[in-house]
Amino acid sequence: MLIRLAYTSTFRPHITDADIDGITEKAAVFNKRHSITGILAVEGERVCQILEGPKEAVERLFESIQRDERHHGVVELDVSAIDKPGFEDWGMVRRPMVDIVTLAFSL
Ligand SMILES: Cc1cc2nc3c(=O)[nH]c(=O)nc-3n(C[C@H](O)[C@H](O)[C@H](O)COP(=O)(O)O)c2cc1C
Repeated sequence: MLIRLAYTSTFRPHITDADIDGITEKAAVFNKRHSITGILAVEGERVCQILEGPKEAVERLFESIQRDERHHGVVELDVSAIDKPGFEDWGMVRRPMVDIVTLAFSL
């Protein structure tokens, strides 16, 4: 079963742009290995991420993400079953916040 999960959170103030690039690079490798795709949008300290993939893999990853001390205030926005991934060709990419809003309405 495939799911799509969306959440928001806030980076801790000491987190730099280079740190965020590091998170995205590692995430891309891990996610690809576990058939997880998605998008990470960052604006200032605010984060919105959409994760898609096999239910168990996405839920396990989301548990790690919630425990990650580089951000806080994780709020799950939505989780739903999907027929096919909307970000299949993307892996895990970082995009501007406006893109995630546009995409959310076209899914
Ligand atoms: C905002 C944010 C988004 C993240 N997204 C991912 C992701 O998509 N994939 C991933 O493997 N790790 C992601 N991470 C890193 C995980 O929280 C965690 O560090 C990683 O899964 C390793 O977990 P572990 O140390 O418990 O093994 C993200 C971290 C943050 C702060």
